[in-house]
Order: sequence, then C-alpha cells, then structure tokens
Amino acid sequence: MDRFDARFSCRGEWLEEAENSPVNESATPSFGAVCEARFDRRSVLRGALGAAAVATMGSSALALMAHAREARAADSPFGFAEIAHGVDETHHVAPGHSAEILIRWGDPVLAGAPAFDPMNQSAAAQALQFGYNNDYIGFVSLAPAADGAARGLLCVNHEYTSEAVMFPGLGGGYDKAFSQATPELVAIEMAAHGGSILEIAREDGAWKLVADSHYNRRITAGETEMILTGPAAGHARLQTDADPSGTRVVGTVNNCAGGITPWGTYLMAEENFHYYFMGTLEGHAEARNYKRYGVPGNGYAWGRYHDRFDIDKEPNEANRFGWVVEVDPLDPSSTPRKRTALGRFKHEGAETIVNGDGRVVAYMGDDQRFDYLYKFVSAGRVSPDDRAANMDLLDSGTLYVAKFHADGSMSWLPLVFGEGPLTPGNGFESQADVLIETRLAADLLAATPTDRPEDVQPNPATGKVYVLLTNNSKRQAGDLNPVNDRADNIWGQIVEIVPRGGDHGALAADWSLLVQCGDPADPATGAAWNAATGADGWFACPDNAAADGLGRLWVATDQGGGWSKASGTADGLWGLETEGPGRGTGHMFFRVPVGAELCGPLLTPDSKTLILAVQHPATDGVKDYPGFERSSTFEDPATRWPDFEPGMPPRPSVVVVTKNDGGVIGG
Ligand code: FEO
Ligand code: CA
Ligand code: CA
Repeated sequence: MDRFDARFSCRGEWLEEAENSPVNESATPSFGAVCEARFDRRSVLRGALGAAAVATMGSSALALMAHAREARAADSPFGFAEIAHGVDETHHVAPGHSAEILIRWGDPVLAGAPAFDPMNQSAAAQALQFGYNNDYIGFVSLAPAADGAARGLLCVNHEYTSEAVMFPGLGGGYDKAFSQATPELVAIEMAAHGGSILEIAREDGAWKLVADSHYNRRITAGETEMILTGPAAGHARLQTDADPSGTRVVGTVNNCAGGITPWGTYLMAEENFHYYFMGTLEGHAEARNYKRYGVPGNGYAWGRYHDRFDIDKEPNEANRFGWVVEVDPLDPSSTPRKRTALGRFKHEGAETIVNGDGRVVAYMGDDQRFDYLYKFVSAGRVSPDDRAANMDLLDSGTLYVAKFHADGSMSWLPLVFGEGPLTPGNGFESQADVLIETRLAADLLAATPTDRPEDVQPNPATGKVYVLLTNNSKRQAGDLNPVNDRADNIWGQIVEIVPRGGDHGALAADWSLLVQCGDPADPATGAAWNAATGADGWFACPDNAAADGLGRLWVATDQGGGWSKASGTADGLWGLETEGPGRGTGHMFFRVPVGAELCGPLLTPDSKTLILAVQHPATDGVKDYPGFERSSTFEDPATRWPDFEPGMPPRPSVVVVTKNDGGVIGG
C-alpha cells in the first residue's frame, strides 16, 4: 500500500486499512464453499439462539423483543441498567458504577521518571513512562500486603503510536510521521511500544499504583533483549548480522491482545509486525514468505535509522517478529521469550486454558481478512505446585489450524513438518520452516478463511470458546456461508466453539453462531440477536473479550473509522449472555470517547473490579463525528480526554471500574 495515500489522516486509519487488505491468495475455498451445503443461515442461528430467539427482525420483532425483555429479567446474569449508544468527548459507564483513570500515557512507571511534558518529549523519558495505545490488560495476583490489602500486577500492552495527536506539528496526514521522522522521534516511538508491568494495591476500596515498586517494568521495541525459543530458534532464517545465533532479538512490536498463563506469565501477541519494515520485496530471498504477511509494510521510518528494519539491509529480521512473547512479571530482570512453537502470524492474542488432562491450550486468531484460527496444545502438563516446571511448556507441543465443516463440526489440523503437504516439495525443510511460514502451511492444509479473528476467549466456567470475528468488508456475495454469511460484512459475528467431550486437545469440536452483529432493527444488516436485546444492547465489530469469575462474557468493540456506518455509536463494552433463554442478548455497559476503541477488558477474580484500556482517543473516524468533521491533530484534537486541560493531548489510559456499593460489576 502506498504510504502516502491521502485517504488516511492518522496511523490508526492506515493500520485498519492494512488489516482490511487480504494477503491470502491461496486457492482454499472459504467458509462459503465449505458450509453452504448443509446449513442455511437461519438453521444455524436456530441452533445458536434457541427457537424462541429466531425472530425475523422487522416490524413484528419489536413486540417479541418487549415480551422477551420481561421474560429474561429474572434469568439474566446482568442486572445493570444499560447506557445509550452515542458519541461524545468522554466516557460513560452504567449507573451505579464509577470509572476512574488509573494511568495515562506518559505517567511515571519507573523510579526517576519525569512528569509527562507533551511539549518536551524524549526517548529517555518515554522509556520510564507508561507507553502509548494501551491494549491487552492482564492481572497476576500477589500475596496480600502486611495490612491485608489486595495486590497484583497489571500487565499492559502498548500496541502502536498515533503521532498526529502525540506530537506537535505531525497532524494533517498519517505520512507526516514517516516523512518527518528524526532519530529522536523514532526512538520515542520505539520506547512508547511494548508493554508495562505495574504493581497495584487496593487501598480503602480503590486500586492505586504502587509507585516505584520493584515489579514495575517497561518492555520496549528498541531496548528490551529477548530470546527466541522453541523449534524455530537458531534456524538460519532467524539469523542476522547482529545475531548469528538466531536466538537473540531486541524488542517486540504491535503488541495487541495477549493472555496470562495458568502459571502467571504474561503473553504479548505480536500482531501487525509487517508495518515496521521497509525495503524491496522483489527478488528477496524471503519473497514468498514476506508477501504472505505483507512485509514490508512501510508504516514506520525505523528502517531509515536502524538497518534491521530494512529488509534490503537485514533480510531476516522480519522473521524474528510475528510471535507470541512470554514474560515473567514476577521477575523484573527476566528475559522475555518469543515462543516459536505457537507459530508466526499476526497474532491478535493468546488466551490459555488448562485442559482436563493437564495440558495447556492456547487459542489464537490471525487478524486479517480471510486468515485463520489456531490453537496450540502443549506436550507437557501443567504442574500446579511447581511454577518453575511450567516455564518452558510453550516450547513443545502441536500447533493446529481450524477447518469448519457444514454439519456444525470442525477439525483442528496439525501443522507438523512431514505430514500431509508440509514437505520439501512445498518448500518446507523442517518444523522451523512450518512455523516461520505458518500462514502458507495453513493454506496448504485448506484451513477455513474467516472474517478476521481477533480475541479467542475460553470461558473456564463452561469450557466453551468464543471467537470474535470483527468484520470483513472484502467478503463477496458469491463467497457466503452460515458462519460468514454476509457480503461486505462491516459488523462481524461471534462464533461459539464447544470442544468434544470438553477436551480442548481434541481434533474435533462443534461450532455455532452466538450473534451476528449490527442493528437488528434494520433487516438490511442481516443482524441476529436474541430478541430480548434492547435498542442499545447490540454492537458491531467485536474485538476483545473477557470471561469473568461468574462465567459471564464481556465483549469490547473496535469499529475503526467505520463506526458511523457499522453502528453510529462509539465503541464500548457490552455484557453478552451465552446461556439459557437470554443467550445472545447484549447489554451496553461502557462507552469510550470519540475516536477511541476499547481494549482490555479484565475483571479481577472476584468480578468486583473491571479494568479497561481506552486506546487511541480522538483518532479513528472523527471526521464523521457531527460537529467536528475534520481529523484530529495534537493542536486541535476531537477530545482532550481524559485530562481536558488546555494544551494537553488526548491520552490513551487505563480505567478502573467499580460498583458503588462494592458489589459485583454489572450485577
Ligand atoms: Fe490490534 Fe486486531 O487488533
Ligand atoms: Ca484488537
Ligand atoms: Ca480476552
């Protein structure tokens, strides 16, 4: 894509378009060809929602919705009064709850960090401060403090940077950050990426940062040394001039969602890594591989000052990104591990669950239109009483890709060198090759191309798994099926997977649709919800999810620049019922300020604290915001959330929500 395309006013819009651009040119039939044989859409929804909920949304649906709303009240696990759809300059939370800012971009994390000064930013300061664009949030409990106060570690990803609203003078076109890049600007960008680990403690009922905790840590793109482990570590294709061993790499990029393992480590998923590389694909030794991933993405100017981000100068560095990074938050001096056994793709997240036999299973989406859903099953078993014994479990096991069938079943296909087409005849000489080119291996196995898998969330209370397919505007009318059955699908859908016999390691499972997103009152959308869903209970573009301690599912949305067409409301958080008569009913709980998306979400184990990441306020789609109708700049942003102080730019922030009576969130 031309990096100087004038359609894009900020990096976020460019990035969204990149995710919109499929690079899967394999001849694999999509869900359409696979599934249309036996299911029409309505029969799938009947299975998903229950016969009573299969309403043809239209004039007769309203009466049914009113009836059903009365019927579900007693059964619903969500007791809050939902907020309204809308867009404005601040956030909103359901009545009876409070939302407080815990930490903002630029706030001190490490000892010696200066106070945030937007007019005098430096890489040295940023490396000690909270990074930009907070995305995934994980929580690792610590033993209570001496006074009994609850404590824990927050693990927060910083996905990317939004220069137009971060720095003076860089608004007016997303390419400005590229064309006007300086070594110092690049160094600040690198320091604003990665992750933060923060100790928090509950004092007088409120969670507070523990200043200068020895656990506090910044992980960055430019400074943090990491180790490549697993089957691909050390392979020639991972070796560079700076690292002939092929096992040591500096930094991590585009850390989107992630996970916390059962042994309390923090998984950071590297998503749109292609974006950080420049150079020429034609004639490149890795041309087949890089083309399938969109490398070079030419999104950042890092390669101008750091040869490793220029594929002409360092041909293999891009093979050292696109992995899942495991960090031990309990040891601030530990070296993060890039776990190659989990495959190389645009990892949205990596949520884990302990299988009944003790193996750990990680569910993972590859977030691009027509790309795939994966799971990794460890070879070894989790040792509940021996944390150290679990620390390398993610280095050995089997990676599988999903293939959905027309009869409501699905298969997990192993990506194992030497099996099926994964042979030298197709360019694979080892398991390392299979993992480095995971996408191409999955193409050959005829995996099912999907509508952009984002978070894949197991619910430990039920053993079911939720796949959030965010949208696919590129799906054509001739390529439809029961799971992806809408052309120009700007709304997305949520698929529920039920492992056979509750076995997450099994090769077979069953699937159904939980909801088809979009406005159920507009038949043209093809949206399908439980009829009890209210006027504000529906959403579009599901992205991140969390299952709380009560087994309830919470869904956060990211509509990007398309919010005005997809829903007309800002992004937010919804409670979504998954069981019983209310299955498929949404309830709007939280709304973000204009131009933001909602990430996180995280509930503490007692479900009494909800922690949210408000990402890129004032950026996406603000041109369509009534009364604004232009793109945000540092000098003139659509909102100065959360500070609302003159001259202060908008700041991605972590928000802590509690219930005013101290009870369960949304109860
Ligand atoms: Fe970074 Fe796919 O969201
Ligand atoms: Ca996401
Ligand atoms: Ca999640």
